Amino acid sequence: MAIIIDNEKQLFTLHTKNSTYQMKVGLYGVLLHTYYGARVDGQDLSCLIQQQDRGFSGNPDEAGSDRTFSVDTLPQEYSTYGVGDYRESCLDVVQADGSIAADLRYSSYRIEKGTASLAGLPAVRSEDRGEETLYITLKDTASPITVELAYVVLPECDVIARSARIINHGAAPVKLKRALSCCLDFNLPGSWQMLSFYGRHAGERNLSRINLYHGKSRIDSVRGGSSHHQNPFIILCSPDATETNGLCYSMSFVYSGNFIAQAEIDQIGQMRTVMGIHPQGFEWQLNPDEDFQTPQVLCSMSADGFDRLSNNLHKTILTHIIRKPFANTRPPILVNNWEATYFDFDKEKLLNIAREAKNLGIEMLVVDDGWFGHRNNDESSLGDWYVNEKKLQGGLTELSKELQDMGMQLGIWFEPEMISHDSDLYRLHPEWQIQCPGRKSVKSRCQYVLDMGREDVRDYLFERISEILHATSCKYVKWDMNRHLANVWSAVLPADRQGEVWHRYVLGVYDLLERLLTEHPDLLIEGCSGGGGRYDAGMLYYTPQIWCSDNTDAIDRISIQLNTSFGYPVRTMGSHVSVCPNHQTGRTSPINTRGNVAMLGTFGYELDLCKLSDEDKEAVKQQVLEYKRQFVINCEGSLHRLVLPSERKRFSAWMTVSEDKTQAIVTCVLLKAQANGDQIWFRLRGLDPAANYTVVETGECYTGQALIQCGMVMPVLREEYGAVQFHLRAVAPDDFGV
Ligand code: DGJ
Repeated sequence: MAIIIDNEKQLFTLHTKNSTYQMKVGLYGVLLHTYYGARVDGQDLSCLIQQQDRGFSGNPDEAGSDRTFSVDTLPQEYSTYGVGDYRESCLDVVQADGSIAADLRYSSYRIEKGTASLAGLPAVRSEDRGEETLYITLKDTASPITVELAYVVLPECDVIARSARIINHGAAPVKLKRALSCCLDFNLPGSWQMLSFYGRHAGERNLSRINLYHGKSRIDSVRGGSSHHQNPFIILCSPDATETNGLCYSMSFVYSGNFIAQAEIDQIGQMRTVMGIHPQGFEWQLNPDEDFQTPQVLCSMSADGFDRLSNNLHKTILTHIIRKPFANTRPPILVNNWEATYFDFDKEKLLNIAREAKNLGIEMLVVDDGWFGHRNNDESSLGDWYVNEKKLQGGLTELSKELQDMGMQLGIWFEPEMISHDSDLYRLHPEWQIQCPGRKSVKSRCQYVLDMGREDVRDYLFERISEILHATSCKYVKWDMNRHLANVWSAVLPADRQGEVWHRYVLGVYDLLERLLTEHPDLLIEGCSGGGGRYDAGMLYYTPQIWCSDNTDAIDRISIQLNTSFGYPVRTMGSHVSVCPNHQTGRTSPINTRGNVAMLGTFGYELDLCKLSDEDKEAVKQQVLEYKRQFVINCEGSLHRLVLPSERKRFSAWMTVSEDKTQAIVTCVLLKAQANGDQIWFRLRGLDPAANYTVVETGECYTGQALIQCGMVMPVLREEYGAVQFHLRAVAPDDFGV
């Protein structure tokens, strides 16, 4: 049983395979957090909470002369503003009388088998693997507001998915000024660090690791998308934590819009972390009998460092977030024409690329930006989702047929959320653009944003996209979003509800995705936002893979992909081999290095195959075969970051290991050539120490224990950016040559 209730002690204990999370109804009905950490059975851990008089931290009236109970210092499950907890709150309610306060006390609980579904929002799916959900209802002492906290326990993944639902049972509307999803209070003093993943367009998910100080450390997005700039995912850890050692916790937001993730060290060294929809620009009117559902946060912990933590999240996303059957189905190997042609293509050019692709074993041609309206550059036509017959005679239906005849599939690029001023759609519906009345528009990449909160906008997009999908054999859509929101205002909401537009935008995107996937259940959507600008567990619920970055340079991609892997599995990372010199960095790297890096993801090509040398074409053929062989190990096995580029060694290395530990792939890339260089060596991970392995390429044999403890020496690599890849296979003792 994942959830254990002690009714007498009012103690709630949630167990996963390796972790325990516990809460207790404290004095006066305040729901206290007692523990989250490595698994502990059969113990009331409220013994870890110490109450004492703490000066300026006030006490509830019911406490009489007792000054030791204060919500300002005690660990809370869901903090509120206005009643004496001066740390970061999860909930700020403007009550019907104008007061801003909520004092939540325990009311009831219930347990359900399976996972919680959240209206209109992505959330972990039930998979019949022992999932249970605990709902705890808290009631405000002075208003008809209740909060239902949901804790979905995923025992096998070591994950607890938290969310909150705020309900107005009163007769008058109230306003939510902030409704975060999750608060994690750690009451035991200690030193903490926070890992987060910052970036920019074409430079996503750089790793930041900082010491937390007294005060608040926050990452966030107020851009309308989860953003390239900060990913909605953090790790909190002890300063000694490494890939293989130390205590660490993660919080991953299942949401694709504005967010905050914040860690605060308070007056007595306790840490409070919160995650949720960013309160800036947010306000939500809650009418009588309405509720507000917050998005989910995936909380995980590992007592053995980041490697295990990441693999917990990989398993969770593959098992409970990604739509079936995509988690376990190899996506088609594709060639995308963007870097091959940009806007300058016609049907013949595309068919030539497709023919060459077919010869090399590639399975799909993705027609990227520029096939619609009169779009020959990025200044027009977004919204006009009608094919440009000058470029594609016979339209997409004809192209789809011709591709099918040659044994190739068709994929199509859309950017549904956007509108160009030079478009028929804008001429017909200028009011569909998100735009503050009377202000000049803010342009970004010459384009503007549609009000996705409007049903008529979504109906139009559904109809356009769906018609194209029905008229072709297309089973793959690349869903792009190439700018962030500004001048946020909606023509369909009254002045006092404009604070809802940001969140309604995200709900609208989810709604459209859901409608399309219901109508086209086999459709594989690859998410994209100028590369990896909306790489979050929310989008992954609808789009099993996301284009990792517009930077396709294999060497830059090593850190982008390995850092992405802290929170997201290999299966989700769109990654392609592109041409050299690379279009973004000008760097040249060998084709096998480009292949090895791209194989750590959903594989494809982003170049004009017709222009490749015969030698490179042969390399592509081999890569295609190799990717098919590697898919199950890379995408269903475990991933181990052996040496990150940020460690500033002269190489980087990673490995993937099959679930049964009988096969592994080890990849090492030389980042810096060195004359008379030092030996390249690293320890392996994820293998079975009791097994014996042979290196397929050399026939050398090693014990699993030796590879784990002593490591492996790489052959001498001289070529800058050269790579070496080994396959390990477990062998029976008789075949073991040592
Ligand atoms: C940004 C994407 O990330 C690129 O791959 C490409 O699709 C362009 N948009 C097209 O405009």
